[in-house]
Amino acid sequence: MNRRQLLSASAGLGALSLAGRGDAAPRGLAMGEGGALPMPAPARDLPEALPVQDPNRTLLERGWLFHPGDIVPPPATTHEATYLLAKAGNAPGAAAMAYDDSDWQSVRVPHDWASFQPFVETANVSQGYRPRGIGWYRRTLRLDPADRGKRIELQFDAIATHATIWVNGSLVAHNWSGYNTINIDLTPFARFGDETNVIAVRVDAAAMEGWWYEGAGLYRHVWLIRRAPVAIATDGVHCDPRKGADGQWRVPVAVTLSSVAREARTVRVEAELFAPDGRSLANAASEATVGSLDETVATLTLAAGSPMLWSVERPTLHRVVTRVIADGAAVDERRIPIGFRTLRFDADTGFFLNDRPVKLKGVCLHQDHAGVGVAVPDALIRWRLERLKAMGCNAIRCSHNAPATEFLDLCDRMGFLVMDENRQFNPAPETTAQLEWMVRRDRNHPSIILWSVFNEEPMQGTEAGAEMVRRMAHAVHRLDDSRPVTAAMNGSFFDPVNVSSVVDVTGFNYYQGDYDKFHRLYPRRPLTSSEDTSAFETRGAYASDPAKHVITSYDDEAASWGGTHRATWQAIADRPFVAGGFVWTGFDYHGEPTPYAWPTVSSFFGILDLCGFPKTAFDIHRAAWTDDAPVVGLVPHWNWAGKEGQPIRVFVASNAEQVRLSLNGRDLGTQAVDRLQGNAWTVPYAPGRIEVVAIRGGRAVARAAQETAGPPVALRLTPARTVMAGDDEDAQPVTIDAVDAAGRHVPTANLATRFTVEGATIIGVGNGDPNSHEAEKGGARSLFNGLAQAILQAGTGRGSIVMRAEADGLKPARLVIDRLAVPPRAQVPATPAAQGLREWRRSAAFAARPAIDLAPADGDNNSWAFQRGSLAVPADPAGRWRLYRGAVTPWRRMAAEGGMLRFAEVTGRAELWVDGRKVAVKDAPAPAPFEGALPAGPGERRVVLLVEAAPGAPSGITGGVMLTGR
Ligand code: GAL
Repeated sequence: MNRRQLLSASAGLGALSLAGRGDAAPRGLAMGEGGALPMPAPARDLPEALPVQDPNRTLLERGWLFHPGDIVPPPATTHEATYLLAKAGNAPGAAAMAYDDSDWQSVRVPHDWASFQPFVETANVSQGYRPRGIGWYRRTLRLDPADRGKRIELQFDAIATHATIWVNGSLVAHNWSGYNTINIDLTPFARFGDETNVIAVRVDAAAMEGWWYEGAGLYRHVWLIRRAPVAIATDGVHCDPRKGADGQWRVPVAVTLSSVAREARTVRVEAELFAPDGRSLANAASEATVGSLDETVATLTLAAGSPMLWSVERPTLHRVVTRVIADGAAVDERRIPIGFRTLRFDADTGFFLNDRPVKLKGVCLHQDHAGVGVAVPDALIRWRLERLKAMGCNAIRCSHNAPATEFLDLCDRMGFLVMDENRQFNPAPETTAQLEWMVRRDRNHPSIILWSVFNEEPMQGTEAGAEMVRRMAHAVHRLDDSRPVTAAMNGSFFDPVNVSSVVDVTGFNYYQGDYDKFHRLYPRRPLTSSEDTSAFETRGAYASDPAKHVITSYDDEAASWGGTHRATWQAIADRPFVAGGFVWTGFDYHGEPTPYAWPTVSSFFGILDLCGFPKTAFDIHRAAWTDDAPVVGLVPHWNWAGKEGQPIRVFVASNAEQVRLSLNGRDLGTQAVDRLQGNAWTVPYAPGRIEVVAIRGGRAVARAAQETAGPPVALRLTPARTVMAGDDEDAQPVTIDAVDAAGRHVPTANLATRFTVEGATIIGVGNGDPNSHEAEKGGARSLFNGLAQAILQAGTGRGSIVMRAEADGLKPARLVIDRLAVPPRAQVPATPAAQGLREWRRSAAFAARPAIDLAPADGDNNSWAFQRGSLAVPADPAGRWRLYRGAVTPWRRMAAEGGMLRFAEVTGRAELWVDGRKVAVKDAPAPAPFEGALPAGPGERRVVLLVEAAPGAPSGITGGVMLTGR
């Protein structure tokens, strides 16, 4: 499958160059081009897949069962029950192996149960008025007997928020953060073959760690890891490229080996460096001996010479492949992308990458998107980053927690500079372990340039606060001394004791008026804005209406502690000693509605809205942050019926030298571009076409326009890509808008739309309106200021995805997307929830077919055999017929809906009877699986199997028997 990176298509999406117009060129982003959709034209290629780094990991995301709400087992009262509760494997209630979960909801992970909830005024405002509460997940897991002796790990990439995890009735972990990976060594608990394992997770999402929407549940990937007995530990490779004084690069590689073997073993560890084109550049090897159940670190060094460097513009990735060789065979491997780059922060001149100054043009992000909440598919993370790249953004702050690892992989590949941030400000052992986990997991990423140990902590100006930071910075530097540590302070910069004295780079949240004073008083302390702006815009609105919680998007309004986009960036751009800025925020997010609360449920801060539709701020930053490609954008839209002759404020953002505005061909004047503040005109409204031309060196280099649209007559569906991978994971947003008779986008349409899709699933919907209470799941959404979004997740295999949208009185839209044959990533197969039938009474052999209701008399423990489990009964000269009698009390779901009795193997011809009714027949005598339906019904059910052996052959129930759902 040839997957080409989409990046090239989106990075060049500035305003249209004149030469680039036409169907083949991407359409202008920005604020519209003649009434076009304010989004790029669909890409025609699949983005390149992220390469596998750890081949031992398999996704464990199917087959999970979910129960909303807590399950509290009745307290033990008897001594016997109390005694048993204290024993391994005997957790009670929903943590117990045998718990009846048959009527739980079947869900697919990543899963954010809060995103399915309605908005409720009494729920927590910061979390977006969504009830979160407590929920349970269970998963039955069958392990291959061939995996005996391996190290088996369960890995949850994050769980929101507090999680308690049991395996086979034993408590194996509790984790009090919604942002770190939970790694569980299953090896000592594992059961293999037919003896299945049960994973139970209780998630307490009533617990909050943030003041933004945090979602609820298993919202990042879940993996099953199977490693050789002696293998590389999880996060066990540290590649640390360094440039020597001689200008030559070396890559020290530290490989942590861990062993579950029964004796000490000596293995060979090899590391090899590959160029981007796959050429081998260097290799090294060493031997290491690992004690039983122990760890050891092998260190090697790769001589890299003068490799191509990693940069924002050319994020060149090399690859270090590390292998473990045991007894001559490769038993483990990791493939780590690395980048060669130097970085430093200078107190006078800011940030330098590869000894060249780079101003950090950054945004802060939460992991969150319309429709899906925090369970953002990898493909949507990529799409969001593409939007930022198209804006000229080069830096991202992961606020206020470590991101999904796929996010960092993409930042490496796309050329973003990342501030990776720790969540809990606390040097106690448990929270230090979370900080260390972050550094250990993330330190190979070339994109990361800063570790942030906190955000806005009231203790930042105290002796204790400084001591806490000192310890945390030390913990970071012990694992990685190649990057500076920062802390995002909001004040206390001049307190006698404050944390700016114990970090490498001082992070300023807001307090822009103090930049100069700080630099004057502490001329040796490097400084960056770690957070700024907090401006408000409602996408597509051009007048504020406080009563309706609508905020103009002329970049006029900001939080009292922040500033407008333009004023904020101006202050940063004007000061070389400020390394850069991080706008609060790149995208809107659920929760923290500011400045308005209920019925407002999400933020106004984003440069792009919750769906990723650009606001005016997008072009403001694009003009300020893009140097070469010409940029021009124009607002507002040009649909102001009833305002004819009245003054309309026209705002233009450009990075050219001059901009010339015209209305219906009439020249309205040329202005010298103010790249950071933008250009403004007041234009008496007349319907038609308002157009701006950007000029450089006397030549028109870009243009943008808005055209008056007529009434909407039809719907339109525009995907981000015309192709999707049929891998069951790929996801993309589709834009829904209304067009007029001439096919022009109608920016004022706010009508209700409904849609359906075949060949894909709609996993969420949105429209970017912070005041909307419409459900974010399902197949309906109103357009908001002309736009709505549905997020599709592709099914599997080659085929077509067909989406249809309709609205009352409008021509419906139909969209066909090619679904390409891309193999899905391996998933651990779902193990059907099942109730075992192990106890049978087996009759003697009969020469003729016995009556089905033949049964041992009460108290007759002797004439029918007790059979536990499966058994091939030898041929008997007395006859070839036997009866097997069993009983089962179905779990709730099977009792309500009926189930399937599944015999893994029956040898002989057979009939299956339930409660005196024949439900299935097996005609062939050869050993084979056999199954029959168990009709719905409560209470104990009688199961009879009649078996007729082949002449002279063994017969019977020769495999396990399960009652499962249908
Ligand atoms: C900052 C904080 C952010 C967000 C922002 C809103 O103080 O760090 O998380 O709350 O304010 O303006």
